[in-house]
Amino acid sequence: MESKGTSVFGAMLVAGIALVIAVGAGAWAAGHYSAKTVTVGSGTTTPVASGPVDPTIAAGAHTFVQFACAQCHGEQGKGGVSPVVPALDTIGKTLTAAQLRHIIDHGLGVSSNPTRPYMPVWGAVVSNTQVNDLVAYLHAGLPAVDGATPVSAPTGQGAAVAGAALYVRYGCINCHGPNGLGGVPNPSAPDKVVPALSGAKFFKQFNTDAKIIDVIRSGSVIGKAPIVSMPHWGGIIPEADLQALVAYIKTLKSS
Ligand code: HEC
Ligand code: HEC
Repeated sequence: MESKGTSVFGAMLVAGIALVIAVGAGAWAAGHYSAKTVTVGSGTTTPVASGPVDPTIAAGAHTFVQFACAQCHGEQGKGGVSPVVPALDTIGKTLTAAQLRHIIDHGLGVSSNPTRPYMPVWGAVVSNTQVNDLVAYLHAGLPAVDGATPVSAPTGQGAAVAGAALYVRYGCINCHGPNGLGGVPNPSAPDKVVPALSGAKFFKQFNTDAKIIDVIRSGSVIGKAPIVSMPHWGGIIPEADLQALVAYIKTLKSS
């Protein structure tokens, strides 16, 4: 038995349990406790202070982080990243499910030659279930969900190490695949897939850091929805992170 649980005593009394044997000295830990108590004459179990989150809303929160919605719209959609990217905490509740689904699937504000971030087209990349989860999360007001936090880049370990984490944090991996292998279906695009960020063809075309950084900043619109294009990240990804992403990409297979 663990030596935790005296503070559970009050709660148990409230619950009207006849006998509680709390073992050892107790402590509250981060909103809940792992008390081991023995109750007699009652089927009541130890109360859990932090209640369960609706699984659909929780999944939406994780999806929001996975697809880097949080990198443009701010964590929990609170905004503050760029003046051209709206916060979502209010609008998320006012738009209907159909409107939200349409915006996520088809994008918003896409221009043929973007000079600023626009809402990317996600329909070919994000599944129906994931869109439903996102809608539930937006309708719930983007609550904090345990573990739904973007991965942070290690510091002091070199640009390539940071870049590998940023490749996940900014959601590049969802479209360009692990290790920049590409091959993610983009059925309506001329190539039918999102390109690799590795291999001889890639490194022949993108043979300088500046060329790689330019395309990440500007994006590249290859068509309208349902075609998925390269988002415009200028004004979203800071210069140092762009350098780190390039350092990581250059570690990938070149032949
Ligand atoms: C590259 C940056 C970027 C990413 C990543 C991104 N968005 Fe957006 N989003 C935008 C911009 C910019 C707009 C505003 C477009 C406009 O109105 O011209 C927008 C608009 C929206 C809107 C409409 C808000 C309104 O006020 O009408 C919703 C909803 C939304 N995004 C949800 C999401 C979700 C969910 C994700 C993740 C799957 C996501 N966004 C990822 C940039 C981004
Ligand atoms: C929504 C999907 C999506 C996301 C997210 C995305 N990309 Fe792209 N990216 C594309 C598509 C599609 C192209 C091809 C554009 C074209 O052919 O003009 C592309 C092109 C590129 C290119 C040029 C490669 C080529 O052959 O044209 C680079 C470099 C690149 N992306 C890097 C990144 C990085 C780094 C990130 C993360 C910060 C990222 N991309 C996030 C879809 C995406």
